[in-house]
Amino acid sequence: MNEDEKINHQVKKSQKYFNKLSLFFYDWVLYGIISKYAWGCSTKRLDDHYANYISNNHLEVGVGTGYLLNRVRFQSEKLRLGLMDLSQSCLQKTAKAVARYQPEIYQQNLLEPITESIASFDSISINYVMHCVPGSFKEKGVAFKHLKSLLNENGVLFGTTVLYQDVPKGLLARLVLAIMNRLGVFNNKQDSLEELRNCLSSNFSHVELQVEGCTAIFSVRP
Ligand SMILES: C[S@@+](CC[C@H](N)C(=O)[O-])C[C@H]1O[C@@H](n2cnc3c(N)ncnc32)[C@H](O)[C@@H]1O
Repeated sequence: MNEDEKINHQVKKSQKYFNKLSLFFYDWVLYGIISKYAWGCSTKRLDDHYANYISNNHLEVGVGTGYLLNRVRFQSEKLRLGLMDLSQSCLQKTAKAVARYQPEIYQQNLLEPITESIASFDSISINYVMHCVPGSFKEKGVAFKHLKSLLNENGVLFGTTVLYQDVPKGLLARLVLAIMNRLGVFNNKQDSLEELRNCLSSNFSHVELQVEGCTAIFSVRP
C-alpha cells in the first residue's frame, strides 16, 4: 500500500463510524460526557466560540449532527448556509436539523482539492474534525489550504481539535483517545500544539490559538 492508499484507507475506516446508529447517540455521548469530562471543553465554551465568529454567510465543515450549529442564534433571518462533509449520513442528519435555513450541501473529502465552483463564505467552522483526519498536521493541514480557497478576504475560519501530544490528559481522556485511535475513528496520535500552530501559521496571517483541557480552540484569518 503506498502512502496515498494508506491515507484513503484510514479516511474510510474513520468514516464508517459516522453512520445513522452512531449519530443517534452522538450528541448525548459527545456533548453530555466526552467534550466536558474528557476533552475539558464545555458546551458553553463551544457555543461562545461559534457566537464570536459565525456570520450570515457561513460554511459548516465536518458537520456531524449539526448540534452546535443548530444552537446558534443568527443575527438575521437572511442567511446563506453551506454544509460540507464526506459522510452522507452526517450531511443528511444535519441538513434535516437546519432545514429552516435551506442549506447548500457539499459532499467533499477535505484532503482532496475542492473542484466544485462555490461562492466564498465570510465564516467557516471546523469543529472537532481534524483529530479524525489521518496524517500529521504537515499532511492533513492541506485541508486548511483547501478551505482557505472558499474564504473571503476578510473572513474567518474557526474551530477546535483534540490534541494528543503535550496537553494535560486525565484518565477518561487517555482512555477515550486510546479506544478512538485504536478503532481508527481518530487519527491524532501525532497532533501537538506546536504542529497545529505551524500548520495554521503557514496557511493564515492571523492566528489565535488557545488550549482548554486537551482541546485546541482556534480562529484564523487570511
Ligand atoms: C467528530 S465529528 C464532529 C462533528 C461536529 N462538527 C461536532 O463538533 O460535533 C467529525 C466530522 O468530520 C467529518 N469528517 C471526518 N473526516 C473528514 C474528511 N476527510 N473529509 C470531510 N469530512 C470529514 C465526519 O464525517 C464528521 O461529520
